[in-house]
Amino acid sequence: MPEAIHHFPKDFKWGTATAAHQVEGNNTNNQWAVWEQTPGNIHGGDRAGLACDWWRNAEADFDRMVELSLNAHRLSVEWSRIEPREGYFDDAAIDRYRQMLLGLRRRGIEPMVTLHHFTNPIWLEEQGAWENVQVVPKFERFVIHVVRSLGDLCDVWCTINEPNIYAVMGYLTDDSHMPPGRPGNFDLTLRVIRNMLLAHAAAYRALHNVQPLARVGLAHHMREFQPLRPNHVLDHLVNRLQDNAFNQGILDALMHGRWGLILGRGAEQSARAVRGTLDWIGLNYYSRTRAYFDPRQRSTLFGAIIDTPGGEMSDYDYGEIYPDGLLHCLRRLARFKLPIYVTENGLPDEDDDQRPAFIVRHLRVLWAAIQFNYKIQGYYHWSLIDNFEWGQGWRMKFGLYALNPHTQERTPRRSAFLYRDIAKVNALSSDIVREYTPELLPTLFP
Ligand code: BGC
Repeated sequence: MPEAIHHFPKDFKWGTATAAHQVEGNNTNNQWAVWEQTPGNIHGGDRAGLACDWWRNAEADFDRMVELSLNAHRLSVEWSRIEPREGYFDDAAIDRYRQMLLGLRRRGIEPMVTLHHFTNPIWLEEQGAWENVQVVPKFERFVIHVVRSLGDLCDVWCTINEPNIYAVMGYLTDDSHMPPGRPGNFDLTLRVIRNMLLAHAAAYRALHNVQPLARVGLAHHMREFQPLRPNHVLDHLVNRLQDNAFNQGILDALMHGRWGLILGRGAEQSARAVRGTLDWIGLNYYSRTRAYFDPRQRSTLFGAIIDTPGGEMSDYDYGEIYPDGLLHCLRRLARFKLPIYVTENGLPDEDDDQRPAFIVRHLRVLWAAIQFNYKIQGYYHWSLIDNFEWGQGWRMKFGLYALNPHTQERTPRRSAFLYRDIAKVNALSSDIVREYTPELLPTLFP
């Protein structure tokens, strides 16, 4: 059989994604470092600790990216290192980030820098962090410092990672194990999301003022929401509301400068400033969620969510594996007519028995989306290496490389070679599928 090939566009970015606190090690000055000290907050009492030791030696893992033929990486800078006390900026921290960005560039890897990925300096946390709209000028000042110091080495910026996840996990979900750990606060959840969007907009303008050619976006986590019972009217209704609160409200604010019905509850600031503040949009896609009507759930508009009963689950029931949801989310983003990056996609899978097929199936969907002319410019797999998975500690392993956090030893999983082979030829081919996931050959290349 001749080889069949799905080519990706020229200059397509093949990358991985990481976040500062999850990989750097010895971050002691943010709210997570405090949170990790309280027993019960992190699975198994784990701590980020030395993490993947990137503060000392990220470069060894940059070499691994080269071995995988990657040409892009998304990493974040840690606000609490750069501004350890309010208004005081640490030059040594900036120098280290300069080294890292140079290290990536020298290896032919385009950096995308995220400016906020879940962690806050302790001084900010003490002021109510994102609950308080005063965060907006503070974030803006931090961003201006970063772009002035690093702007010659980076021009793709991701302002904020997943406002919805940060807010929902910290202020809504009972069992999230994320700081500040104040579940059941729907109104506060909305306020935090709004403040994050206002800060994103301020950062967008600040970045462009300092660096006119900056390409600025935001990483939006979208889940595919579907009603649990297809014939149940109320499930449909709450599903729409959940989808609006979690997925669409943020997109509407960014596109139209309106908070909308749900996100606007109790809003004091107008959303006008948020409109049009994207040069690209990032999608973090993981899984599908089912919504159903539950009259007891007043605080979440009578909606509750579960995974699809009998669905194909990843380890630890992290989420349902549902590649078509990626297409549906991309279709919704394509309406922006902006470049799109898949800024995260992955699963916890220590023994790598699901990941190869996960990657192939999602990349096939991505390729299909590109055939619809959606402007998809890159894919960043979460993650290069096992790292500190927040409230789940070290048990969930998302890496193409396995990490032993005690010895710092790395071992490539089979998925690393699969991803390398795809990135190397900038294509998904029947030969690659035959080698790594032969069970998918009849469906993908019949
Ligand atoms: C977050 C990452 C996290 C990943 C896997 C994303 O929502 O941005 O920090 O590790 O999911 O759970």
